[in-house]
Amino acid sequence: MLRAQKVTLSYGAEPVLEGASLSVDAGQFVSLVGPSGSGKSSLLRAIMGLQEISSGRIETTGLEEGQIGILFQDDALLPWRTAIENVALGLRLRGKDSREAAEEARAWLDRLGLAGLGGRYPRELSGGQRKRVALAQVLARKPRLLLMDEPFASLDAIVRARVTQDVVDLVESEGIGVLLVTHDLEEAIALSDVVYLLSNGPRAHISHSYTVRIPRPRNLVKARAHPSFAPLYERLWSDLSEVVDGPREIREAA
Ligand SMILES: Nc1ncnc2c1ncn2[C@@H]1O[C@H](COP(=O)(O)OP(=O)(O)OP(=O)(O)O)[C@@H](O)[C@H]1O
Ligand SMILES: [Mg+2]
Repeated sequence: MLRAQKVTLSYGAEPVLEGASLSVDAGQFVSLVGPSGSGKSSLLRAIMGLQEISSGRIETTGLEEGQIGILFQDDALLPWRTAIENVALGLRLRGKDSREAAEEARAWLDRLGLAGLGGRYPRELSGGQRKRVALAQVLARKPRLLLMDEPFASLDAIVRARVTQDVVDLVESEGIGVLLVTHDLEEAIALSDVVYLLSNGPRAHISHSYTVRIPRPRNLVKARAHPSFAPLYERLWSDLSEVVDGPREIREAA
């Protein structure tokens, strides 16, 4: 569904990525982790078409216009529109009449645990509720590929657990492909089928990829108790530390 091959990217003379490759298949949940400043957001922006690359290829297949959903860390709700209107707007832009759009918007808000809150303005909602409205807005347009850059970072633990479970349930039921940028290794493993680790920049590339063998459908609490979880977490943690600090021998020699 999405294939980024040997992507090289820089800001002016400052190199960021060099030869970074990854792919996302339909129905696959993929996470991208790596040190701060390594170029995760830059790679995601390049995939979104918001950032030029200097070499390599980014290909999407089997996707029509409008089938890529994007969720940034900061939600982009219109403050002068209610939750329902915010969600319905995207549907109206795609040609639904206002009643149908409002009905669908309400159904999405219900599905994400916001029943009864559709008439509120963003300022009348909590941060976690706003995040859910933003998610409803993206999901209502039925993306086939969902690109997310640390969308859950500002949520408290309970809300975060619920929203991420919602996303996983949807991905499993609708067969959406997902690419998630996150700093949270536990979250990356619990949610994903594949986790990519980006090496330290400048000139970052994908240094490791891991296949998560926890069965689906997944309950995210139970996933963390799966026997393969802790060993994978330890490996990912030690590879990430190595990527940040350099290999152990070099560190000790220094
Ligand atoms: N618009 C820009 N102009 C110049 N340099 C930039 C720009 N955006 C990002 N950078 C630089 O590119 C590098 C990669 O940034 P990027 O935001 O992709 O990192 P990241 O992996 O997402 O980091 P974090 O985990 O902190 O979000 C950093 O060194 C950053 O300073
Ligand atoms: Mg970033």
